[in-house]
Amino acid sequence: MKKAARRGIASGAAALMLSAGAVAMAAPQAAAAEACTVSYKVNTWSGGFTATLSVTNLGDALKNWTLEWDFPGDQKVTGSWNTHVAQTGRHVALRNVAHNASLAKGATVTPGVQGTHSGAVTMPTAFKLNGRTCAVVPSSAAPAVRSADARAAAERAADRVDNPYQGAKVYVNPDWAAKASAEPGGDRVADQPTGVWMDRRAAITGTNGARGLREHLDTALQQGANLVQVVIYNLPGRDCAALASNGELGPDDLDVYQTEFIDPIAEIFQDPKYADLRIVTVVEIDSLPNLITNVSPRPTATENCNRMKENGNYQKGIAYALRTFGAIPNVYNYIDIGHHGWLGWDDNFQPTVDLLAQVARDSGSMANVHGFITNTANYGALTEPYFSINDTVNGRSVRESTWVDWNRYVDELSYAQAMRRALAQAGFGDGTGMLIDTSRNGWGGSDRPTGPGPQTDVDAYVDGGRLDRRIHPGNWCNQAGAGLGERPTAAPASGIDAYVWMKPPGESDGSSTEIPNDEGKGFDRMCDPTYEGNERNNFNRSGALPDAPLSGHWFSAQFQELMRNAYPPLS
Ligand code: BGC
Repeated sequence: MKKAARRGIASGAAALMLSAGAVAMAAPQAAAAEACTVSYKVNTWSGGFTATLSVTNLGDALKNWTLEWDFPGDQKVTGSWNTHVAQTGRHVALRNVAHNASLAKGATVTPGVQGTHSGAVTMPTAFKLNGRTCAVVPSSAAPAVRSADARAAAERAADRVDNPYQGAKVYVNPDWAAKASAEPGGDRVADQPTGVWMDRRAAITGTNGARGLREHLDTALQQGANLVQVVIYNLPGRDCAALASNGELGPDDLDVYQTEFIDPIAEIFQDPKYADLRIVTVVEIDSLPNLITNVSPRPTATENCNRMKENGNYQKGIAYALRTFGAIPNVYNYIDIGHHGWLGWDDNFQPTVDLLAQVARDSGSMANVHGFITNTANYGALTEPYFSINDTVNGRSVRESTWVDWNRYVDELSYAQAMRRALAQAGFGDGTGMLIDTSRNGWGGSDRPTGPGPQTDVDAYVDGGRLDRRIHPGNWCNQAGAGLGERPTAAPASGIDAYVWMKPPGESDGSSTEIPNDEGKGFDRMCDPTYEGNERNNFNRSGALPDAPLSGHWFSAQFQELMRNAYPPLS
């Protein structure tokens, strides 16, 4: 039912083509001039607006294009996406950017502008594409992603399949695959699906030679894939407890996040040509958990996390993303829930569940959330076969061991399943599905234990038997000794939608020394192998590999190590 509504956009355009045809009979020259359709969606607030346009070329293919109009009111354009913009007086000209310069017959581009106004925002009624008049599709036929109320969202949710991974062919990112297969032995894993990271505005159109979002979705269609995994990672004041993945947006840039990041991504997602792709979004890793564990009065509080808690921009940004993507029937939103070595303690677990429920409600409907993901870009073992949380040694619980330190969970699978139960109870419902990132939690190789540790005391028992060989479970950067984990698999265990490789293996978590850059990334000493730690890893060594590049950049030595220590091993 909702798909039909979505396709109404296309039929609206068709209706306009018909009316253009009708005009053609009366005035052939005018008809020849009506060579395009334009629809737009405007959002306004006091003093500001955004307008997203959808421009379809009905005439001959164009090598370059310019769309022009005159504002009836006093709007002033201050920025744009998918386009270059210039305004003189009331006259506005949008010019193509490199990636959308050529516009085939029947092709659509979706540029957008944002700006300021003092009076009412009235959109123009006449547009010209390369000097030729366009037919205007009534804005009611244009996508209105923000008007969705809770009921509509619930209806749309009913359109979604329970587990999008079930029976799906998942997109293999050729940009990652090329790097993987350029490594000796890399061909053994280069055909695995990995997450596509939208980690800054420029990633939408493509950065550092990597393809942009549209090209990824187009390539997915070419591959015959029907599921694409997209990580949404650009919150204001990102990565407030660490430095390695600080982002491009300042703590107060909520508006930029919404209009220049989330909106343009949504615009692409809802292009009718992608309607049959299941789009899995992983929404903003590490953010909400930081508001639980790294704020005052905890000893682990950071100034930046306190600030983000105070201004509410993590919650607002995520609620906005959930609402906007949740209105698109083929998008499946999964929210990040850290990992067991972060939130598995009683003090952290339920408060996180409550915060997630609150943010989902703020989005307008809990049905905007399809599920949750654990262990993204982390190293926690999937299962610990040689000890369990219920074991005791000489009358002492393993919870008393230094490694477990009163945590309730010892591995990701038990944590994910417990979280699922708690989240279902908090209002997300029984259909809630979980993903576990197994890209780097294999812990194979020669150091892998083959049986339980000695029963001399709890520490010997846990340390001798644990697969996770990290120095401390709080260590998170480029961990030495780690290996590729379970290969991506659909429905591998009860309540789990899939094991996924959301963090692409071989991409660094952060640089081991300071590297100047224009990505907003800082230097976090947790990535420096000589560092002796902080409150968050109880002042242990960082366990990081040396000579690492900036986060997200290719780290050949890490990739080789992950392959060497893969478990299950690579054949
Ligand atoms: C980085 C991102 C990158 C992602 C995937 C993060 O640590 O901050 O820039 O896209 O990892 O590698």
